[in-house]
Amino acid sequence: MSRFQKIKGTRDVYGSEVKRWQKIEHLLRELCFLYDYAEIRTPEFESTEVFKREDDSSDMVNKEMYTFIDQGKRSLTLRPEGTAGIVRSLVENKLYAGADLPLKYYYIESNFRSENPQKGRYRIFHQFGVEAFGAKNPLLDLEVITLGYTVLTVLGLKDIKILINTLGDEESRNNYREALHKHFQDSIEGMCADCQRRYKQNPLRILDCKVDKNHPALLSAPKIDDYLSASSKAYFQQLLEGLKMLEVPYEVDDRLVRGLDYYTDTVFEVVSTNPEMGAQATLFAGGRYDKLVEYFGGPEMSGVGFGLGLERLLLALEAEGIDLADEEMLDVYVMPLDEKYQKEAFILTTMARANGYRCEMDYQTRSMKAQFKTVERKQAQVVAILGEDEIMQGRVTLKYIPSQQQVSVGFYEMIGQLDAWAKQAFAKHQHHHDCDCNHEHGECDCEDGECHCGHHHHQEVEDEKNS
Ligand code: HAM
Repeated sequence: MSRFQKIKGTRDVYGSEVKRWQKIEHLLRELCFLYDYAEIRTPEFESTEVFKREDDSSDMVNKEMYTFIDQGKRSLTLRPEGTAGIVRSLVENKLYAGADLPLKYYYIESNFRSENPQKGRYRIFHQFGVEAFGAKNPLLDLEVITLGYTVLTVLGLKDIKILINTLGDEESRNNYREALHKHFQDSIEGMCADCQRRYKQNPLRILDCKVDKNHPALLSAPKIDDYLSASSKAYFQQLLEGLKMLEVPYEVDDRLVRGLDYYTDTVFEVVSTNPEMGAQATLFAGGRYDKLVEYFGGPEMSGVGFGLGLERLLLALEAEGIDLADEEMLDVYVMPLDEKYQKEAFILTTMARANGYRCEMDYQTRSMKAQFKTVERKQAQVVAILGEDEIMQGRVTLKYIPSQQQVSVGFYEMIGQLDAWAKQAFAKHQHHHDCDCNHEHGECDCEDGECHCGHHHHQEVEDEKNS
């Protein structure tokens, strides 16, 4: 039995899962490049006050933070989310000074919350998030929502639902708060302990209670819609029109208040509707927070963003049967047939890598049969064999697996031969791109750009195109 185990609610990521993470991270970075969001990296821990703001009513702040006292007797907290640290950084570094607005950032980071672990809910998890500052325009909310939505659709997810609501501006929120205070006045005693705390700190959050969700007082609670200022209503309508314009489906959910206290106006949650997902189905969530920058000591500056749980995204892909981890082939496998030839094998391996070929060698002097098993498993395209004859002559035997062609070349000719085979493979691949024969790549026996598949010959396709 292993001497140590990982901590409950944490995960190791390895094997094909790592490849899925890498693909997703690559896609996220590309997408952010297209949308002109710059990466920002902030510390894993901050002063506790960065996250625990005055009178904050959220469960995250009140119950789930990893807070500790360091050697300097300071209270520090492992970041439970990305937004607060980024706003702290924005203000501390005056990132807005002389900048073109909106200022747009993205991050891929680990977050820490001491929640009860279950499928899709971990104590260390990862968020991809974006935050856009300094432009209060429903089109920017639209951009943020559609960026997150595009991540899901580009990956092929279909079982998605966008829930959206508005909490209104400060004036609307204050009026609504007051109305809720009055409404719950007589029933709050009979509600859960969390609701009693929320009643004092932020009665809006009672609407989010999972325990009392069917309590008559909750069901009869006043609706935000009746307290929205004219400008908040118009702002929300413009955002909804934008979603319609882009044909992004959504549902307005007037009970949606979100778990964090800093939101104003727009809030949204995007959930997976796939039954496999279980209770933790929110893939990304966020909204506007137009007072946070000022709270941190910065200028009056609006903000909007979301956080997307990467573990949950992976679970949603699995639930919908989408596999991103196609096996990556090895270009070359170098096979020394005796321990004595390992040094030469190492040199050839280094040469191949230096010339851009993905290459591995055998370090254990296994039998040829065992080494060929590895070639098969790693789908190596070329095998470079170093036996006694080869070493005596300063040559290497190269075998090109797709055609079984075998040649003997001098050490310094190896790269030239690899290049020639790579060119041949590329031409074949390219032909498949150009030809309309509908065969999967590798299915038909075309060579050097000439198709023998018996369907559409290249020339016929050209003729068709020209006619
Ligand atoms: P949040 O709703 O607390 O918002 O988290 C955003 C997303 O992080 C969730 O929708 C979920 O996918 C993922 N997530 C949260 N907790 C866990 C957990 N314990 N295990 C796995 N995944 C989890 C925020 O954090 C805000 N900072 C979002 C935001 C950005 N709002 C504006 N800008």
